[in-house]
Amino acid sequence: MSSLSQNPQRPEMPSSRRGSGSVVLPSGQTLAYHTRTQDEEDLPHANKKTMADHLRKYDSLFTLTPQRMRMIVEAFRDTLETGLQKKGQIVPMIPTFVFGWPTGEEKGDFLAVDLGGTNLRVCLVTLQGEGKFELTQSKYRLTEEQKQEEGQKLFDFCAECLGNFVKSNIVSAGGKIEEGKNIPLGFTFSYPCSQERIDHGELIRWTKGFGAPNTEGHDVAAMFREALVKYEVPVTLEALINDTTGTLIASHYVNPSTKIAVIFGTGCNAAYMEKLPAIEKLGNLGEGSADEMAINCEWGAFDSFEHEHLPRTKYDIIVDETSNKPGEQSFEKLISGRYLGEILRLVICELIDEGVLFLGQNTYKIEIPYVFDTAFLSLMESDPTDELLMIIGIFTHFFALETTLAERQFFKALAKLVGRRAARLSACGIAAIVNKMGYLEEGCSVGADGSLYNKYPGFADRVHEGLVDIFGVKGKNIVTHHAEDGSGVGSAIIAAMTKNRKDAGIFVNV
Ligand code: BGC
Repeated sequence: MSSLSQNPQRPEMPSSRRGSGSVVLPSGQTLAYHTRTQDEEDLPHANKKTMADHLRKYDSLFTLTPQRMRMIVEAFRDTLETGLQKKGQIVPMIPTFVFGWPTGEEKGDFLAVDLGGTNLRVCLVTLQGEGKFELTQSKYRLTEEQKQEEGQKLFDFCAECLGNFVKSNIVSAGGKIEEGKNIPLGFTFSYPCSQERIDHGELIRWTKGFGAPNTEGHDVAAMFREALVKYEVPVTLEALINDTTGTLIASHYVNPSTKIAVIFGTGCNAAYMEKLPAIEKLGNLGEGSADEMAINCEWGAFDSFEHEHLPRTKYDIIVDETSNKPGEQSFEKLISGRYLGEILRLVICELIDEGVLFLGQNTYKIEIPYVFDTAFLSLMESDPTDELLMIIGIFTHFFALETTLAERQFFKALAKLVGRRAARLSACGIAAIVNKMGYLEEGCSVGADGSLYNKYPGFADRVHEGLVDIFGVKGKNIVTHHAEDGSGVGSAIIAAMTKNRKDAGIFVNV
């Protein structure tokens, strides 16, 4: 019992076993309390047997059978097809106006701005032809406040950073940019935008926790152009692109067997090259001819609102309902780096509530939403020591919690379940595109990028395993590889392709 509970003046405490919470005092003030749930010095810990029992339960909740995966693939494929036929679908299958593959001979200096989920990056890319390039870049971390403040302010910040980057890279400052020269710019904006032309894009909805007002429903290319004028940045915005489209083009530039690109990072999404006649909803493009166009699937929205196909656990439902966009991005919420740590944290909190974990310890630090970074999952999974010293470190250092070996083994196994489910669901998305495009027999390369893909141990192997579970041995024909820098290099190549296309008089109005 905590000493607070012996105080007769104390307001009613909620009946949680957790070590923290808050109560509203009669004065209207809120009092936060942090208590130990038991007073014993010798802390009772969950033993090996109880942890193993719990693990069995979570194992069945988070494991996807091959049969279930095939059902998901089927529904996914239908969704992709409907998105190509009709405008305004939940998975919007966005025509990008990137017509076909690069030749590898695109050349010149280009600027690229990449507004991602975590960072803003500005790059100067020199395309040298033969699939070669040079890149200079600066990165700026976005604050949580910036993600929620007025949309125009966000674009002003991008323009200001780009302006500073240009100044520090002019020839007189030792850089490559000639003073007074107007440079073509590719703007990578990694949120769903419906495009009427390549240099236009109306934000359908914010994802990945962004919520800047007065941006949804607006043309973000126009907002960025306004900011570029305000900060007198000497550039011409040639193309607004999605990170997946950039990744598709950049990966193909250096590895022509690439046919699909996927991002598994803070968010998740895919792009691929589609035959023009298959994009039924596409209107008249004007003068010109082309066979193909890249499609930005925005597959993170798969099964949003209806929740018919994906295996959501109660933790996934909590993540969804407490997000700033309930109901939306259902597929992404089961897969991407923004959410995996939170899913695991919610399981831990449930076991704290049930009195299984951390009895007698002060658990308030781990009870804060989103405090459990997805990077911890990778670290826990890759802890090579018998004692699981890395896991000891995470829990003591970040959450001031002591753990037993049995608990640490449980956490490691739990991280594996959550990470494995994400990889297998990702395989379902890739398989849906492979199925739709008929790539299984001939095989194809999938350019993949994002923190989860690059840093989570075994993520790629599990995607490959998932593909074999779906397709049998032929699944081995589909191979993911680390993609080239899509939002920097890809954006520059697309800006170059667009300039070349328009100079050649092909579809000049889009
Ligand atoms: C966005 C996509 C983006 C993906 C990966 C998602 O949340 O909707 O546009 O490609 O994240 O960055």
